[in-house]
Amino acid sequence: MAEETRTAKLTIGDKTVDLPMFAPTTGPDVIDIRKLYGQAGVFTYDPGFTSTASCDSTITFIDGDKGILLHRGYPIGELAEKSHYLEVSYLLLYGNLPSPTELEKFEALVTNHTMIHEQMIHFFRGFRRDAHPMAVMVGVVGAMSAFYHDSTDINDEFQREVASIRLIAKMPTIAAMAYKYTIGQPFVYPRNDLDYASNFLRMCFAVPAEDYVVNPVLSRAMDRIFTLHADHEQNASTSTVRLASSSGANPFACIAAGIACLWGPAHGGANQACLEMLKEIGTPDRIPEFIARAKDKDDPFRLMGFGHRVYKNFDPRATVMKQSADEVLELLGIENNPVLQVAKELEKQALEDPYFADKKLFPNVDFYSGIILEAMGFPTSMFTPIFALARTVGWISQWKEQLNDPQLKIGRPRQLYLGETERSYVDIEKR
Ligand code: SDX
Repeated sequence: MAEETRTAKLTIGDKTVDLPMFAPTTGPDVIDIRKLYGQAGVFTYDPGFTSTASCDSTITFIDGDKGILLHRGYPIGELAEKSHYLEVSYLLLYGNLPSPTELEKFEALVTNHTMIHEQMIHFFRGFRRDAHPMAVMVGVVGAMSAFYHDSTDINDEFQREVASIRLIAKMPTIAAMAYKYTIGQPFVYPRNDLDYASNFLRMCFAVPAEDYVVNPVLSRAMDRIFTLHADHEQNASTSTVRLASSSGANPFACIAAGIACLWGPAHGGANQACLEMLKEIGTPDRIPEFIARAKDKDDPFRLMGFGHRVYKNFDPRATVMKQSADEVLELLGIENNPVLQVAKELEKQALEDPYFADKKLFPNVDFYSGIILEAMGFPTSMFTPIFALARTVGWISQWKEQLNDPQLKIGRPRQLYLGETERSYVDIEKR
């Protein structure tokens, strides 16, 4: 726990309450309000938690004003360029970059746990073929607690570790199976001679009728997309995982809750919504019409892939994603992709518009990711499952950190009640 650095004084009427303050290693100081209700009989009020730190953490740091994202202190741009997803996963989970031996052992551990229990295949059969893959992932991941009883005891460090590896290793297999099921193709089993990203691409795109050769350009791009989505501080889905875990729920149930939260279009579902928006715009000449709609207070339409609760500058992941989109589409010979042209023109016009500049709305991680994923052959319905796959290691890292926190208590917010005060029941004859 951080050291108390100074004291905040809160005066309400003739009463003054001293509240301790803590300083982070970097970022804003915090005011500890845990004793506020006991001392002053009032709650704080912060719907959406815009000014609330829900925990202390050492995993990821974001400076939204400067567009900085650090994982255990390493900038996301350097990790995306020089590292790879399983090495970043090790960093998030254990706090430091692995030695060659540590990395080799970790990769072997993940590789050898990519298959799912054969009986779980029957779960897929229960879904309609047109089910959204996110619905399948929520169901199947939650069902893992019905198959892996030997790694559900959160008080057993070894079981926590087993559950962590199982989830990281099996999520690509489950996501690929969700895709195959919805397109009516047979499931493709993982292979131990392929790296994490290549294995996922093969499980998605291979068919029994012919050999599948992984395109190294696509595999590198896939791995970079995984890295860019790995963790992001206390976002909505990570906070969901933490809150679910605070009641003592098993890891598979907690991660299923995180997947469910991520699905929303304001969060991880924005990558699918953004590509659908770019296709609806269709041509650059229609961009002004959509920008006008985004600015219209009476129109619920928002530019998908734009804006962020924390970033009031460029999302550093979007910068890397945009470079990757240019590279991948050029290497695939589709650099004149009309959707990419619309995206670039939309970004240009929005950033020149005072509305977006004044509200500090910039492209976020979801603005360009869909363009790459579509170019790789994925339908829009697979965009958020890929985000969930990549974010699993972040959810797990935050879940483990919370379980090791001696201050862990069940999360139980209060409210500002605006309903009726007590009143007596009225018999129906008298109403
Ligand atoms: C992710 O938290 C994370 O870290 C999430 C994430 C992660 O890695 O986990 O980064 C991943 O979820 C990225 C965000 C993906 N979502 C979208 O792209 C959906 C479109 N964006 C918005 O819905 C919105 O920007 C949010 C939800 C992302 C953030 O919303 P906030 O912080 O609650 O801000 P707000 O809704 O209060 O908006 C502030 C103002 C409002 O106008 P006023 O009421 O002040 O007049 O900006 C406007 C909003 O109307 N605004 C937008 C806009 N986003 C905000 N106007 C038009 N288009 C937009 N996209």
